[in-house]
Amino acid sequence: MKPTAWDEIGPFYKRDAPHVTQLRKPGDPGLPVNIAGKVFDTRGDILSGATIEIWQANNGGLYDIAGDDYRTTLVTDAKGEYAFDSVMPGHYPGRVCQHVHYMITAPEHKPLTTQLYFATDPVFEGDPTKNYTRDPLIQSVDLVRPVTLSGDPNEIHAAVNFEIVLERL
Ligand SMILES: [Fe+2]
Repeated sequence: MKPTAWDEIGPFYKRDAPHVTQLRKPGDPGLPVNIAGKVFDTRGDILSGATIEIWQANNGGLYDIAGDDYRTTLVTDAKGEYAFDSVMPGHYPGRVCQHVHYMITAPEHKPLTTQLYFATDPVFEGDPTKNYTRDPLIQSVDLVRPVTLSGDPNEIHAAVNFEIVLERL
C-alpha cells in the first residue's frame, strides 16, 4: 500500500489531548460527522495500538488553545480501527480548506503528520481532483476524502472514512 502523504503540522498542535471519542458536545453548531478508519503498514497489515492525535477547528473555524475542545488522542484497537464523532470543521483565515489534523505514531514505524480534507468542501466546487491545488497545503489529492450524508433533512449526519498507511522505520 502507498504510504499516506505527509502534511504540515500547523501552529495549533498541543500534546496530551484527552482520550475521547465524542468531540461534538450537545448543542455544538455544525454538521455532525463521524470519522473512522484503519491504520495499516505498507504491506497491508493492520496496526493495532497505533496512537492517533487529532485536532481541528470548531464549526466557527476556531481552535481551542486554552482547553481541549476538538482535540483527542485515540489508539487503534485489535482490528487497527479508530473512530470519533465531531463536527465539520469551519474555514478560517489563512487556510483555504476545511481540514482535520492528524499525528500518528506506532512502534517501529515512521511518525506521520497529515491532514484530512473533505470532498464536499465548497472550495473544490464538486471536483477535488481538478481543484485540490486551490489549497497550496494539500500535498496529495488522496487526502481529500468522500463524505457520505445520511439522515432526514432536519438531521443530516456525515460520515468519512480515512485510512492511514505508515512506513516502517
Ligand atoms: Fe489547521
